[in-house]
Amino acid sequence: MKITVINGTDKKGVTYKLKEIFLEQFRENAEITEFDLPKDGPGFCIGCTACFMNDQNLCKDAEKVQKIEKALLEADLLVFSSPAYVFHTTGAMKAMLDHFGYRWMPHRPAKEMFGKRAVIITQCLGAGGASTAKDIKDSLSWWGISYIRKCTFKLMSDIKWDKIPKKKRDSMARKLRSLARKMLSIDYSKPAHTGLRTKTKFLVVRMMQTALGKTDPEYTDYKYWKANGWIDNIRPWKQSN
Ligand SMILES: Cc1cc2nc3c(=O)[nH]c(=O)nc-3n(C[C@H](O)[C@H](O)[C@H](O)COP(=O)(O)O)c2cc1C
Repeated sequence: MKITVINGTDKKGVTYKLKEIFLEQFRENAEITEFDLPKDGPGFCIGCTACFMNDQNLCKDAEKVQKIEKALLEADLLVFSSPAYVFHTTGAMKAMLDHFGYRWMPHRPAKEMFGKRAVIITQCLGAGGASTAKDIKDSLSWWGISYIRKCTFKLMSDIKWDKIPKKKRDSMARKLRSLARKMLSIDYSKPAHTGLRTKTKFLVVRMMQTALGKTDPEYTDYKYWKANGWIDNIRPWKQSN
């Protein structure tokens, strides 16, 4: 089994500890690839739109973005971790997600994503953990992933792991280990079920791409949809394994 982890902070703090507890049951048998942001991530998107309009390999950060994309596409399970920074995911995570705008469904989604499973782990001191998870989930669901599990914590005490009361640390660990057991029990040889919401989004975008293709058959995103057979009767959730 392959797991790709994107860490929204490279600090070995609370987020790191929580992510490690989740991963401990996988360590023995899984091949785990981790990207610690901002260290292993691309720089800020500068809005050149080369990825949208032309080719993602023209991005100034293509090497780093494509390395992350390859690891995401090869993984059975995707894990994202982030603390809340002013009610949202870290700037480093957002900077990375911006680079995958071209993979949103209205553009050129990867068919593999429709069968993936993902876990999002977020934590905050008091408020903002849920909106942080939503920042990440918005991208994942627009990439085509239906199976997304969120695990959000409010520390309500201290932001240093050792100063968090043991009772609280234990309860967070129990929740993470229980989610890990559930994720371990999945048969990853079968793709995740694609939900109705994802299918509806896809079909609405398909109508849009069909109309765009009539106006300009050379339009980059339309050509991609056409080449995948999605303008015709092929569907990515049947191709994702
Ligand atoms: C810049 C910054 C902004 C933060 N914003 C919030 C916030 O909006 N809400 C909150 O409850 N905690 C906030 N925190 C606390 C973090 O979410 C987190 O609990 C803390 O940084 C410990 O996690 P870490 O060791 O992984 O960094 C913030 C921390 C930092 C450094």
